[in-house]
Amino acid sequence: MTGNHKQRYRFSEAPIWDLQRQYYEEEGLTAWRNDQVPQYITSNPMIATAYAEMIFGFLQDRANKGYGSEPVTIVELGAGAGRLAYHALLELCRLRDYAGIALPAFRYVMTDLAMSNVRAWMEHPALQAFTAEGILDFARFDAIQDTTLHLVQSDVTIRSGDLQQPIVIVANYFFDVIPQELLYIDDGQINEVDVYVEYPDHYDSMKPTELLNQIGLSYEHRRATEYEQESYSYRDVIAFYKEQLEDSHILFPVVGLDCLERLNKLSQNGFLLVTADKGYHLLDNWKYAEAPELVLHGRSFSLTANYHAIEYVYKQRGAAALFPPQHHQDINVGCILHLDQPMSYPQTRLAYHRFIERFGPDEFYSMKVWVDRHLESMDMQQILSFWRLGRYDAEFFIQSTQRISSLIPEMNDEDTQDLLTGIQRMWSSYYVMEQRYDLALDAGLVLFEMSMYEASKRFLEISIREEQDEVVPTVYYCLAICCLELELVEEASSYLGKLLALDRDHEEAMALLSAIQE
Ligand SMILES: C[S@@+](CC[C@H](N)C(=O)[O-])C[C@H]1O[C@@H](n2cnc3c(N)ncnc32)[C@H](O)[C@@H]1O
Repeated sequence: MTGNHKQRYRFSEAPIWDLQRQYYEEEGLTAWRNDQVPQYITSNPMIATAYAEMIFGFLQDRANKGYGSEPVTIVELGAGAGRLAYHALLELCRLRDYAGIALPAFRYVMTDLAMSNVRAWMEHPALQAFTAEGILDFARFDAIQDTTLHLVQSDVTIRSGDLQQPIVIVANYFFDVIPQELLYIDDGQINEVDVYVEYPDHYDSMKPTELLNQIGLSYEHRRATEYEQESYSYRDVIAFYKEQLEDSHILFPVVGLDCLERLNKLSQNGFLLVTADKGYHLLDNWKYAEAPELVLHGRSFSLTANYHAIEYVYKQRGAAALFPPQHHQDINVGCILHLDQPMSYPQTRLAYHRFIERFGPDEFYSMKVWVDRHLESMDMQQILSFWRLGRYDAEFFIQSTQRISSLIPEMNDEDTQDLLTGIQRMWSSYYVMEQRYDLALDAGLVLFEMSMYEASKRFLEISIREEQDEVVPTVYYCLAICCLELELVEEASSYLGKLLALDRDHEEAMALLSAIQE
């Protein structure tokens, strides 16, 4: 079809949501290749550690209340690439093993709309140890409609009322990608905002996922009395908005709230929600708000999560809600305890206090942005400190290898030892993503420059194994030197042979080989 084509929709039913759904379902994990969907801010080891601390606090609280015998189920919604789940679970296990205290057993369930994500997680090498231990399972779960969870690993279906422990829900960068209603509040009246979608020429010959970048949106509101009726589930928060707001657009998370309610029903004892998003919990942020703009990430988009509405609805039902007293810059982390006597969960609340409120993922991310720009002026102690703050994050190491290399000549023994320990810790918790990076090569070369030949050899050999088709000749040369330093003369000759097979004029290799053979 050609010519401009315009159609009117209710906001939550506009085709943009179908396009987004199709994008995630079709792309699966490739959505995270080349950072199409941002992931660092929401899935780095620092934020995952904060999640693990809150979940660990919750396990302690349950044990202290005498509910230690039933397992706790942790369900992550829209787990995407799986990096947050991996780091959170790793840290949770570390805390459990370090503390050695009696806790309820737990199982972490990674879920997503895209079945291809579920299949990819089942195969992911970093997740195998957790599934073998029986603490990780997977399920396809569509937040828009599903009411049960079928765990594919253990072949168990969790239905209404099955869980005796409260369910722990993790919703990370999630509420802002699922459909929301759009309301306009003015003159004490609730209006629903409809969206006009303007299609480009030849839109019906386009791939659905290409369309998102090209369709135009405009809005028009109409009176909507259904939100004010006695029978409407979220009438109280709507009444509050009616009273408090004027000339304001509100994204209203009906799908998100309904999803929480469906998950709530799986347990006999409520839920703990741990969530992070680009989202506002303060009413002030919604006052006089303009109609939203879609923030496009390649071929997907996100809006803003309305944590205010979620907090309001559950507080009215007796929950406690924790959000930071300070304003956030990029990511807002919240925790809602929809539990019997929620204030009697001190370890959960303390974990929130220590790992979010005092200094949390939002502050960390702001500093990371600054550090990225100032790496060239940082010394080794500052690099090591920030790396430790970020829980030995691979991304930070990758970004700072050049600077580290330039500092190696003046490094003392203690820094050298700490850098080696850091590289080992980073490697032991490295989660390979679609956007592959040869981390082992970077680690091996830095260690080589530090004259740590044994460790360097280990990483360079991993790099060769994993990147067989793209081995750089220098790697063989470094390996030959490592072997000579370790008195492995035959291996050194073999690496030089491989190097000369790739580059038969490599003068240093020829000289070294003839020196060995003499
Ligand atoms: C923006 S990504 C966030 C991924 C991950 N939580 C993170 O923090 O990086 C949103 C995820 O939600 C999933 N998703 C989208 N719509 C969904 C739905 N209706 N039900 C369940 N998952 C959905 C997508 O497949 C995608 O993995």
